Amino acid sequence: MGGVCDIHCHILPGLDDGASDMVMTERMLTRAYESGIRTIVATPHFGKGFGYASPEQIYALVEQVQQAAGSIHPSMQVLPGEELMFQFRLLEQMDRGEIVSLAGSHYVLVEFFPGLDFVAVRTAIQEITARGYWPIIAHVERYPCFYGKVHLVKQLIAAGAYIQVNSSSFQQKWLRRDIHFVRRLMDEGLIDFVATDGHDMHGRIPVLDDFTAYTRKKNLESEWKRLLIHNPDRIIQDKPIRRGEKYV
Ligand SMILES: [Fe+2]
Repeated sequence: MGGVCDIHCHILPGLDDGASDMVMTERMLTRAYESGIRTIVATPHFGKGFGYASPEQIYALVEQVQQAAGSIHPSMQVLPGEELMFQFRLLEQMDRGEIVSLAGSHYVLVEFFPGLDFVAVRTAIQEITARGYWPIIAHVERYPCFYGKVHLVKQLIAAGAYIQVNSSSFQQKWLRRDIHFVRRLMDEGLIDFVATDGHDMHGRIPVLDDFTAYTRKKNLESEWKRLLIHNPDRIIQDKPIRRGEKYV
């Protein structure tokens, strides 16, 4: 089993609103390494506004970034992936093999337009699982249609979805509705992955500090391990998540 893995990071250079070039990529890799991350799944945006990089393009960039990571530390690993914006054409692109799953597994990272309603999200999850993929909903706290409605998140999980939230959503800002929502999901054990969603070195830095501080304060060491090491390891092994298990 590997170390801490960040399953959502815009580390590939020049593809989206993440790392602008290789210099930024290297700075992000260094910062991620210093904060304890050992594996990064590169997840550039795939969708309207950012374009549709081919799998070959992604693999070539991952190889380049892996070399940079290896020179920071031999144990550091970079794996291919994408953050797929859900639109109906995405299903056709999946059928044609034009998308990149996480680390070559059945897992795919999917985001939605913030205004989308619950039924549309559930339909999307059903369509994706019907194609044999295991969808992870990226930063579920971004969707106001779920606030105060944890039962809807449970329905999505029952439909086959996995749940990812951003580490920065564990910061201590109690009045923010998204942060309140994430704490509720955490209390109910509904989160499967916590990731950085790192984009750069000024606003969205690839570190897990907020989540780490939160779990230390609350004595949730086993949850820290489950969400940052064990569950990402299930992606790398291409195995389903075992829900409800306790880790020590
Ligand atoms: Fe993202």
